[in-house]
Amino acid sequence: MTATLTVVVPCYKERDNVAPMVAALDAALTGIAWEVVFVDDDSPDGTAAAARALAQHDARVRCIKRVGRRGLSSAVIEGALSSSADYVAVIDGDLQHDETRLPLMLAAVRDGADMAVGSRHVAGGDSSGLSSPMRVKLSETGIRVAQMMTRTSISDPMSGFFLLRREMFEELAGRLTGQGFKILLDLILASPQRLNITEIPYKFRPRTAGESKLDVLVLAQFAGLLLDKLLGRSVPLRFISFALVGVFGVLINLVVLQVARGAGVDFTTAQAIGTVVAMVANFQLNNQLTYRAQRLKGAKAWRGLVLFLLVCSLGAYANIGIARALYAENGHSLLAGAAGAAVGVVWNYAVSATLVWRVR
Ligand code: GDD
Ligand code: MN
Repeated sequence: MTATLTVVVPCYKERDNVAPMVAALDAALTGIAWEVVFVDDDSPDGTAAAARALAQHDARVRCIKRVGRRGLSSAVIEGALSSSADYVAVIDGDLQHDETRLPLMLAAVRDGADMAVGSRHVAGGDSSGLSSPMRVKLSETGIRVAQMMTRTSISDPMSGFFLLRREMFEELAGRLTGQGFKILLDLILASPQRLNITEIPYKFRPRTAGESKLDVLVLAQFAGLLLDKLLGRSVPLRFISFALVGVFGVLINLVVLQVARGAGVDFTTAQAIGTVVAMVANFQLNNQLTYRAQRLKGAKAWRGLVLFLLVCSLGAYANIGIARALYAENGHSLLAGAAGAAVGVVWNYAVSATLVWRVR
């Protein structure tokens, strides 16, 4: 029998949660023809192997192992697009979401809702599984921002637990950002019409095995997702990130310059030190943030750093050259400087994307 419901489970380093997850789905989904797809990003703990071991004895279990890529949202997209079922659900692989709510969510969509969303913030739901007061605060702030953006009243737009028709997912797939952690928000923002969403309360459980992957960089990516949607995709998200890192680099440059000058270093040397420190810091930041999905590691990172320094030096050279020429022509130093800087950042971005991080 083919599956009616595909349950997509993004997982990274969740080996010990795989078997309990399948058992929990088995118990929760009696009477529904279901399958589960674990989408693993080559976890070092052998998560994919654990899923495949189960799959060898259970045709309802599948595994997609992605290599050289990371990301919760993009994992969910690939899992959902691998489905041929009528309905697709997404649930975390760490048992924090309550799988016993799935039949209710399925019923809601069968009854005509565009989407059913597991919510911690409607009557009967609860987010006590958040690990710290800091996480609670962050979560609340994120929800408020997301509500403003989506102009929806849904109480838990940050949820990673939802169900919809597979066809609808496919329709929206081409418009998704696919960045970061917030795939539900991405879907809602991708939809041209207002979605009719039914919220189903659930209790967010504490984690028992493994650890959360949420960190500062994930939060920065969330800000990026919002910015991307605000700008209507007219400017690529990567460019925004790259440019913001660049602005940060200028600050680093100035701070180092001041410190070195304070220590009695002459201006030219101090500025040179500041520039190099800023470029190294920018490489690090871009490698961690802008190109998180194709982050360079080990020897490749060193090679990347050297290339990046070369690319940016050429960018600086072009910047100064253009600014100088424009200044000689019209004598407006601010305009000339801005034009030079703009050419420099576009050059740095375009060349480092293809040469250093090799984005296809
Ligand atoms: N494939 C893949 N790749 N999976 C990932 C990645 C990744 O890069 N990062 C995280 N995951 C998986 C985790 O293994 C887990 O199954 C799930 O995505 C959620 O990650 P957690 O690290 O456990 O996130 P959380 O507990 O802080 O937050 C979750 O709950 C929130 C509240 O509902 C997330 O699901 C949020 O999206 C959700 O809003
Ligand atoms: Mn979790």
